[in-house]
Amino acid sequence: MIGGGNSLVGEIEICGAKNAALGILAASLMTDDTVTVENLPDVSDTNVLIQAMESIGAIVDRKDRHTVRINAGSINSLVVESNYIKKIRASYYMLGALLGKYKNASVALPGGCNIGSRPIDQHTKGFKALGANVKISHGRISVEAQKLTGNHIYLDVVTVGATINIMMAAALAEGKTTIENAAKEPHVVDVANFLNSMGANIKGAGTDIIRIKGVEKLHGTTYSIIPDQIEAGTFMFAAAITRGDIMIKNVIPKHLESISSKLIEMGCEIEEFDDQLRVVAAKRLKQTHVKTLPYPGFPTDMQPQIVAALATAEGTSVVTESIFENRFRYVDELIKMGAQIRVEGNSAVIEGVGRLTGASIQAPDLRAGAALVLAALASEGESSIEDIVYIERGYEDFHLKLKSLGADIDKVNGEREILRSKFKVV
Ligand code: EPZ
Repeated sequence: MIGGGNSLVGEIEICGAKNAALGILAASLMTDDTVTVENLPDVSDTNVLIQAMESIGAIVDRKDRHTVRINAGSINSLVVESNYIKKIRASYYMLGALLGKYKNASVALPGGCNIGSRPIDQHTKGFKALGANVKISHGRISVEAQKLTGNHIYLDVVTVGATINIMMAAALAEGKTTIENAAKEPHVVDVANFLNSMGANIKGAGTDIIRIKGVEKLHGTTYSIIPDQIEAGTFMFAAAITRGDIMIKNVIPKHLESISSKLIEMGCEIEEFDDQLRVVAAKRLKQTHVKTLPYPGFPTDMQPQIVAALATAEGTSVVTESIFENRFRYVDELIKMGAQIRVEGNSAVIEGVGRLTGASIQAPDLRAGAALVLAALASEGESSIEDIVYIERGYEDFHLKLKSLGADIDKVNGEREILRSKFKVV
């Protein structure tokens, strides 16, 4: 339940990157030694992956909310049966990790947010190039190899998931692997750094070409995950859309450049420090155009948040989605709030309306859910947003963090509590 209209002001601490954490957790299965992962976000996607790792015998000991110790020396099955693994995309990272170490794995086909068809052909192309047999049947994907041998792999599309998955399997293959047209996202680099800290030999992560020299085995490590670029970007847009002033702490400003530069075009002021960044929005936002692209371009995971902000801006904006074909499903919800948006093919044409009005809406996926919360915070009147489980996949304590910045927001369960909150019954 959200009461709109408050400017968000204050400081906020950003968690570790969810999408790096997912790769790193899976990669920690690749040694029998103990691995300590720090700065792990406490979100449902990482927690589901941890349960799946435990289901095959890994021992995961949570030292505190953001630190886990993982020991995969006791793995007793290479078949990931866990039912809810289907709910997350990152189940596929267990394939690359287990294939690398045990030359065999079988995992339920990945699920995740419904934002497009999301094929996995580039993952399987990579595994096959390393010498694995890949079988997809009855909702499962199984990979096995006598041995893995390094190879030259050219990715037909820039894909984060396939880049990380191939990198993991190739880390323990015999000989050299080259991944060309690799994804350059900060979380690809973070997983490579993590693997290197375990003794892998990976060079070039963060560029188009990643070179991997296979090693015989990996060892234990202690590693701290990078800050979440998308959580940070979401709070930057929270400042922008509510005409607020937020100091966003524990970030790597370099990872946020494409987001900062759009916010500056939209009339915000950005102050950059070593590991924090301040966003001030003193005036009504201005229109802009943007196209989502692989890193260092504007992230697809920030597309709904910028559309929500532009819905309130002055003038006409065009936002083009070039990564996923079904990532405008939330636009109908914004229209219920008074936004004027037309979706034409893979572009949204947005006529800024000044102020949105509160409505009862539904989160269709993770980032769209967060964007709808931002829209509600900037609206006149009350909004209720259902299906916030999607938001909880990737944002830790989202409503509490917003509340600490002055938002009028409460998490409620069921009709009765919604009515109570609506009429402020205590
Ligand atoms: C990762 O998804 C992220 N998920 C997504 O974050 C993010 O939106 C996406 O990368 C792009 O940055 C995780 O890290 C768990 P891709 P992924 O492979 O790996 C096509 C969020 O909100 N493709 O980089 O599934 C694909 O269809 C989520 O946190 C193939 O054609 O994305 C898409 O058009 C949502 N064949 C493009 O590549 C393949 O084999 C990029 O996808 C693989 C992908």
